[in-house]
Amino acid sequence: MDGSAKQQQSLRDGLLTRQSVPPRLVDGPAPAQADIDDILAAAVCAPDHGAIRPWRFHVIQGEALNRLGDLFVEALKKREPGAPPETIEKEQSRPLRAPLIITACAKIDHSRTDKIPAIEQVVAVGLACQNILLAAHDKGYGAMMLTGVNARDPHVKAAFELEGPDEIVGFIYIGTPSGPVFEKERPDPTEFTTVW
Ligand SMILES: Cc1cc2nc3c(=O)[nH]c(=O)nc-3n(C[C@H](O)[C@H](O)[C@H](O)COP(=O)(O)O)c2cc1C
Repeated sequence: MDGSAKQQQSLRDGLLTRQSVPPRLVDGPAPAQADIDDILAAAVCAPDHGAIRPWRFHVIQGEALNRLGDLFVEALKKREPGAPPETIEKEQSRPLRAPLIITACAKIDHSRTDKIPAIEQVVAVGLACQNILLAAHDKGYGAMMLTGVNARDPHVKAAFELEGPDEIVGFIYIGTPSGPVFEKERPDPTEFTTVW
């Protein structure tokens, strides 16, 4: 196999074997800085109509994970002023389930929405998220994209400098798999495909 055939084979393998590794199945160490740089370099290679670059990534690790927990608790207390202590504790510790979170946000460029509607800008960030997941997988890390109520919470969104139709597209939890990752059965694509 020549170099480019090998590269194609490894891309194909990566695409077909990627699967989410839930935060409860990852541990330290967090990706090294060089790996984080590579993962983000992959993210910004995503398709992006009009080169708007609507993606805003936030790298959260170490002490910053506690600060994200504080933010989730603040948001919870605004949503549910009488939230019980165990719910508060769950929100506080939620980000601590993995050693690294990359938060992927879509900052909509309103001056371009006549030709490139907000949905296309959000899709570009979704594609960047897939590149993050694939790049993390390629490096042997386990990753999973999560949203949940915090991704839609106005207090959380404001903390990421988002407004209006801007979105938190995903909190991508990344770490080192703590055990074997069992192969997942995938659907038959023909079930979802019509040949015109
Ligand atoms: C935008 C988006 C948000 C998601 N949010 C959640 C979530 O909050 N909780 C969850 O369990 N899975 C969530 N998922 C699904 C997982 O990331 C994952 O894709 C799913 O469990 C299937 O696993 P797989 O990636 O191995 O196919 C989300 C997926 C996407 C694309």
